[in-house]
Amino acid sequence: MHPFPCCVSLFIVSTLHDKVASHVPLGLERKEAEIYRHLDPAQLPKHIAIIMDGNGRWAKRRHLPRVAGHRAGVAAVRSTVETAARIHIPALTLYAFSEENWKKRPESEVSFLMRLLSRYLKAEVPTLNENNIRLDYIGRPHELPKDVQERMGWAREATARNTGMVLTLALNYSARSELVDAFRSMVEAASQNGGIHHLKIDEDAVSRHLYTRHLPDPDLVVRTSGEMRLSNFLLWQLAYAEIYVTSTLWPDFRGVHLLEGILEFQKRERRYGGLNGDGPGQNS
Ligand code: FPP
Repeated sequence: MHPFPCCVSLFIVSTLHDKVASHVPLGLERKEAEIYRHLDPAQLPKHIAIIMDGNGRWAKRRHLPRVAGHRAGVAAVRSTVETAARIHIPALTLYAFSEENWKKRPESEVSFLMRLLSRYLKAEVPTLNENNIRLDYIGRPHELPKDVQERMGWAREATARNTGMVLTLALNYSARSELVDAFRSMVEAASQNGGIHHLKIDEDAVSRHLYTRHLPDPDLVVRTSGEMRLSNFLLWQLAYAEIYVTSTLWPDFRGVHLLEGILEFQKRERRYGGLNGDGPGQNS
């Protein structure tokens, strides 16, 4: 026989349901909330890195100029950033502009991207503040146009006191250049601290001199548009990251797709080269 009368069972079930539902963070859309309910909130990635790709193809399919894809990509950035902040992801890094983009794309497209970035920063600061998001950058910003550098500095300063998610934009970024800069910085630090014979190189030392020294390594990297490449993005930091590739083109990507990626991430068994999910560096 059932231990409780029917009305008591119903009460228990509905209370439990309310309890689970109340764990869904505020502000998620219905579809996002549906996926979130399948996630383990204690096992969310601490740092998600995203290679935003497919803007050109999105535009081409619509017989639009490539830059229309970049413009549409801003809505995807907005949705992804807000959803990540709402579910309390500590760090999100977006690959917005590589060093190669700068050198290999037509001048008109590059200057469009610069204007788009400047406008995004100006328009988005209030929303970043509402969501307690702190903005930062990685890359070689000193090679970007002066007015863009100024706008970047202004937006970083305007969000500097926020204590929630750190949103890092990779701008004029190349992982190989980052490593070159890290090695140069190590040599420079040694020469100012007793001379080159004081130079000590190990993994911790390299990590401490990367642009990302204040961030944990990403545990999940997402790439849109179906391409299976890292494209010179965070090569050191992604050593143990889970890779999630979706065929969705970046301008169509939304918070719900991010949650799908996190769901897939939580199904993976992370072993770091060991046998039973030990931390990075163990038995690798
Ligand atoms: C790759 O698509 C995307 C970029 C080079 C630029 C990313 C820029 C945005 C998403 C817009 C704005 C971003 C911010 C942070 C304001 P692609 O042009 O290589 O696409 P394709 O491979 O289909 O040609």
